[in-house]
Amino acid sequence: MSSATPVRVRLLEHPTDQEIEEATALAARAFPWDNASIAMTGNNPSLKPHIFGMQFGAARVAGRMYVVSPQDSDKILATGLWFGPGTTMMRTEEQRAAGFNQFLELLDPETRNWWLKEYPEALKIADDAYGKDGMLNNWYANLIATDPEHQGKGYGTLMVQAGMKRAVEDGKFAALATISQELVDWYTHLGFTQIAEAWITGPKTTPIRFWATWLRCDKPKDHV
Ligand SMILES: CC(C)(COP(=O)(O)OP(=O)(O)OC[C@H]1O[C@@H](n2cnc3c(N)ncnc32)[C@H](O)[C@@H]1OP(=O)(O)O)[C@@H](O)C(=O)NCCC(=O)NCCS
Repeated sequence: MSSATPVRVRLLEHPTDQEIEEATALAARAFPWDNASIAMTGNNPSLKPHIFGMQFGAARVAGRMYVVSPQDSDKILATGLWFGPGTTMMRTEEQRAAGFNQFLELLDPETRNWWLKEYPEALKIADDAYGKDGMLNNWYANLIATDPEHQGKGYGTLMVQAGMKRAVEDGKFAALATISQELVDWYTHLGFTQIAEAWITGPKTTPIRFWATWLRCDKPKDHV
């Protein structure tokens, strides 16, 4: 792992529309068109950027948006969204009004119903795994992504560490979900432990299945 260009981690206290657009486009390039994307959009690739845009919108309201940029410019090379104790993503109407509600309007009725009923039901396993209010009272990462052109340079690690460090300072744990064994291995290397897993089935019109797993980190590994 090497980083040719010196970079810095920035916490965007008040992300601009332009920064959110740039980060949304980055996430849409970084995340593959996989079973989860197919399920979440009702197999509509044009809706893929909305999955990320609504998360940045919610983070602007109530979360923390970290980015990696070169020392000499504000270009976004990687990004990480963390939600701290006292809130979780899409918990409030104000967060949902920043993109989620608009996304729902674009979906076919079955996929919309899946987001509102079946998906939240499937996610209850995570609430149980983190313990009562565990997700609410700790630091939770909802989106970590590095521009495909800049992967393998340690930037994703910086985005994970941003939240892990904050969790340690607060005496909290860091938590997140992921959907592949390769990513579980990467997060394990950074200090996370798998605590739950589930197969989630998409909407009735797109009944594709994807694997999801939840992890937590109580103490980052010394080597990262
Ligand atoms: C996951 C992701 C954020 C990683 O970003 P990144 O900037 O490449 O991450 P880093 O450079 O900090 O870490 C990757 C490096 O960690 C090391 N690494 C990866 N897995 C490892 C493991 N199991 N054990 C030890 N080291 C490992 C490797 O050196 C790897 O570099 P390489 O790809 O050149 O071999 C990026 O691949 C991405 O955006 N993926 C698509 C979006 C996504 O899936 N996000 C996570 C959702 S939960």
